[in-house]
Amino acid sequence: MDFCKTYMTEAMKKALAEAFDSGYWHGGGPYTKRVESILRQRFGCDVWMTTSCTHALELAVRLCGLSEGDEVILPSFAYPSAANAVLLSGASIRYAPVDAVSYCLDVDALEGLLNDKTKAVIVIHYGGNSHKIRELSEFCRKKGLFLIEDAAQAIGSTVDGKALGTFGDFGTISFHSTKNIGCGEGGALVVADRHSDKRHEIECFLEKGTDHTAFKRGDREFYQWSALGSSYVPSDLLMAILYEGLQTFDEDNKVRLAAHRRYAEFFRALAHPAILNHSDRVKGESRHNAHLFYLVFRDKIGMQDFIGGMKARGIPCYQHFYPLHTAAFGRQFDMKDTDLSMEEHLWDCLVRLPLYTRMSQDEVDRVLTAAADVLESIHG
Ligand SMILES: Cc1ncc(COP(=O)(O)O)c(C=O)c1O
Repeated sequence: MDFCKTYMTEAMKKALAEAFDSGYWHGGGPYTKRVESILRQRFGCDVWMTTSCTHALELAVRLCGLSEGDEVILPSFAYPSAANAVLLSGASIRYAPVDAVSYCLDVDALEGLLNDKTKAVIVIHYGGNSHKIRELSEFCRKKGLFLIEDAAQAIGSTVDGKALGTFGDFGTISFHSTKNIGCGEGGALVVADRHSDKRHEIECFLEKGTDHTAFKRGDREFYQWSALGSSYVPSDLLMAILYEGLQTFDEDNKVRLAAHRRYAEFFRALAHPAILNHSDRVKGESRHNAHLFYLVFRDKIGMQDFIGGMKARGIPCYQHFYPLHTAAFGRQFDMKDTDLSMEEHLWDCLVRLPLYTRMSQDEVDRVLTAAADVLESIHG
């Protein structure tokens, strides 16, 4: 059994072959434009494709104009990309705790973490979940802070029908194969309308610091080095795959949502004493996209016994998010004045079950049969 599985369709193969035959393999091609147009409609604002969510985060941090001496608040329960993006800009990071229910940044803890150097907040939408995102957005607006949403895991997640990634100044999406929809490696930067003056800067940065994109649009007679830049544009071959994936994404994701629902119903009904908490789709006004399904055990032994028992039955299950503040590289930034014990508890007790788009009911049943069997031998 796979933990994550990429799905491919005949339409994807056809689009890829067409892009291949066209010879347009580099970035900024016809498929990239089509994908950007679909995503602009989906998010209701400007979107640029990037090679990864990591690069989208780096660009988002750059657009905030951060530099040495600035500080960015982010959770320790996170993927390292957001922290790396900040450090690459020369700014430093300050860890914030996560909320005990959603495992996303705790907005109520922010006030106490601010200082003169704080310039931005990065929120990670864990498993496509969110927590008080409107309050967080309002808090940042009032304090004059940029808000970046690391929505790598959150395509398809909404709050009151509004897509995650569109509440802050910038949102970043991942199209890595492990995400709900993927093209191998890929990402997108979502930009709030109030930053529409940054279009030229974004286009130049993505295209090696040149105004090549404006030139291709016919807005320039020739193109030249016009700003600082890098190379963040994805290959049109990958965008061909993504284009077809996006055509059926909402339908495909319903299967993933159904698998998540079956998991949640099963563990709710089981109410096993060793399990403290499990993924639920709806938290307040927030609807996640079933990016992942987790169980949180009461203690580390429960987690280890469960993972070991599942492995023995051929079902891979994993812990998640080694907290940044305890990681080999990340511990140098731990200020020790913030209580990050929840993050350590999550690493010790949280287990992810296999879940992927187009996961069949039989596959879900195999996981649940094994889980029931293993849990019989685990006492609460
Ligand atoms: C929360 C989060 N942010 C960023 C990333 C990095 O995404 P990418 O592989 O597209 O750079 C990931 C990848 O798993 C992630 O989970």
